[in-house]
Amino acid sequence: MIPAVARTPGELRVAVDRWRMEQLTVALVPTMGNLHEGHLDLVRAAATHAARVVVSIFVNPLQFGPGEDFASYPRTLTEDLRRLADSPCDLVFVPAEEAMYPHGRDGLTSIAVPDLSDQLCGLARPGHFRGVATVVAKLFNLAQPDVAVFGEKDFQQLVIIRRLAADLSYPVKIVGVPTRREPDGLALSSRNRYLDAAERPLAPALYGALRRAAGELAAGRRDFVALQQEGMENLRSAGLEPEYFEIRGHDLAPPGAGDEQLVVLAAAHLGRARLIDNVTVGPGPRA
Ligand code: PAJ
Repeated sequence: MIPAVARTPGELRVAVDRWRMEQLTVALVPTMGNLHEGHLDLVRAAATHAARVVVSIFVNPLQFGPGEDFASYPRTLTEDLRRLADSPCDLVFVPAEEAMYPHGRDGLTSIAVPDLSDQLCGLARPGHFRGVATVVAKLFNLAQPDVAVFGEKDFQQLVIIRRLAADLSYPVKIVGVPTRREPDGLALSSRNRYLDAAERPLAPALYGALRRAAGELAAGRRDFVALQQEGMENLRSAGLEPEYFEIRGHDLAPPGAGDEQLVVLAAAHLGRARLIDNVTVGPGPRA
């Protein structure tokens, strides 16, 4: 059955308030729509953590820079609702931009998570994570979730949201879900559609290079700078244009030689697409 849709904060609040009266816990899965199996993994994980699941679909203009793909980002609501019909989603929140930003984008009160936002993807996308943090904080306020679920695919985003929730004392548990991949290793992403037929077979090289570095780390190598340079070189020789290839701790801090919990993160351009991915190394909980 196609799930119920709330188009305004008021409609969302009515549904959530009713569940709260019934002592039902609520999980939120924020998305920008154009849903794929990776998103649906998040919805299924959410249902194991709470009695009711809200999926939000909002292409958030704040997190797109000038010249990025805000206008062309795929908007596929009918198809998204059809996919959610086969998932444990109870309500879809689809706000209009005016409902989210009633006074417009200029002069908007915003949330910054400095340092964590000013590195890796943040270097090429200034303001991106401020836009993400601001919309996620608003969604937390609107949906009042007990649990919120995010993908490890966007590892830096997940670390930033954990920090945001801790720093602002949101009473929400942040759950990370492993990355869903194509059979050849490419992480599912709405932006994979920007790859043409010649580029698509090259794209799994990103995951390949990350796995290779992760394998070296697991085998005990700790010459991080050399490993990063090798990663950049592997991406170039596979026909990708790397933006960064970095080894960090699970909190994104620079790695120490004794650290066992590491993550290798990379971003690379391939034609019109900017691809990001990561592979974690070592024991213990991720991110
Ligand atoms: P979006 O790119 O639509 O992703 C929504 C959620 O799905 C994010 O938590 C993301 O990490 C997760 N996801 C994407 N691809 C995945 C994959 N292959 N496997 C598992 N999870 C995957 O990320 C955003 O939207 C936005 O920044 C948002 C958090 C909604 C704020 O606007």
